[in-house]
Amino acid sequence: MIQIKQIATTRMAGLLLAGCALLPGATFGQTIPSLKDTFKNDFGIGTALHNAQFEERDPQTTQFIVRHFNMATPENIMKSAPIHPKWDTYNFEPADRLVEFGKKHNIQINGHTLIWHSQLPAFMRGMKSRDSVRTFFEDHIKTVAGRYEGKILSWDVVNEALNEDGTMRKSVFLDYLGDEYVTEAFRLTQKASPTTELYYNDYNNEKPAKRAGCIALIKKIQAAGVRIDGVGIQGHWHVGRVPFKDIEESILQYAALGLKVMFTELDIEVLPRNFQGAEVGQRMTANEQSNPYVNGLPDAVQQQLAADYEALFKLFLKHKDKVTRVTFWGVNDGNTWLNNWPIRGRTNYPLLFDRSNQPKPAFYKVVALKQ
Ligand code: G3I
Repeated sequence: MIQIKQIATTRMAGLLLAGCALLPGATFGQTIPSLKDTFKNDFGIGTALHNAQFEERDPQTTQFIVRHFNMATPENIMKSAPIHPKWDTYNFEPADRLVEFGKKHNIQINGHTLIWHSQLPAFMRGMKSRDSVRTFFEDHIKTVAGRYEGKILSWDVVNEALNEDGTMRKSVFLDYLGDEYVTEAFRLTQKASPTTELYYNDYNNEKPAKRAGCIALIKKIQAAGVRIDGVGIQGHWHVGRVPFKDIEESILQYAALGLKVMFTELDIEVLPRNFQGAEVGQRMTANEQSNPYVNGLPDAVQQQLAADYEALFKLFLKHKDKVTRVTFWGVNDGNTWLNNWPIRGRTNYPLLFDRSNQPKPAFYKVVALKQ
């Protein structure tokens, strides 16, 4: 009922009738336009996937993912802790399944991520020698990137190497390998996987200070004669506070370096937060006000979310010659990481589809931009 009311009040009514054939036996929700088809001449549309999804445990979920997305990023299984649990042990099975899923359904895979200070294997904890860190670094890149050469589209080679002020983030890699480690990671990945696109990925790197640090990092890689193909702006933003001007300026500045620009982990959260960004180590304490929308999102917030997504996609379309991919960090509001971070067990609403995979007002605003 609610969905019919929404549709009737938007220009989508015409679009639904004109643009979409009713599948026999399909529910009403399946007749909505496909996101990936809507933007097929503009940029790729991706999502983050976890095991249950790419193992196809639920056929309806598979159908839904395949209908709307043509690119996918593993939310966790290619990070170093799960894929490289012991010095000489790799667990490739989940990533291999993801690659198979992509091949079967014509979904391109973005590998995430080779070198990240977080989600490191337990054996890295307390590692105190340059030689050991160097050995891990080289073996990890060579083995993991080498395994998926020719099988995935791209790698987030290095993830989140910068502080908010644009300086290098303290990490085991910086401590033992020095700030050359980023260039070195790209060099090794290029060698192990010559046909894969290579990206640097971070959050808040649309903000001026961090952007300047990111540009310096990219220039350093380029000056060393090492290939870097793109930069990922993660895009973990907050409703009513999306930094549109910074985002546009960043698209222009990164593209001017000859790089593809992509939005790699898009979500717009609606719950109270006392800091910005996506530093996984940062947490908040729950209080009476921290989970206000357990019984549904108030209309005013829903409309603001829709307006933010509309303005964002308008910007992406304006720069579609520079923006190659927009990946949402999750399929629907039920499986977003933001239900558990920075406080566990909240009810968040950051994506275009609700907990039943039904399109939200933001979805209709976004696809209407192409009508
Ligand atoms: O797999 C273990 C499981 O064995 C264990 O029993 C359980 C107990 O808590 O934890 C499971 O691991 C969790 C993992 O997600 C898989 O569900 C980790 O605790 C949890 O920290 C981890 O969170 C992920 C987080 O990165 C840290 O790696 C989120 O799902 C994922 O959405 C988030 O994604 C990051 C990007 O990679 C980089 N940019 C920021 C973004 C959001 O933080």
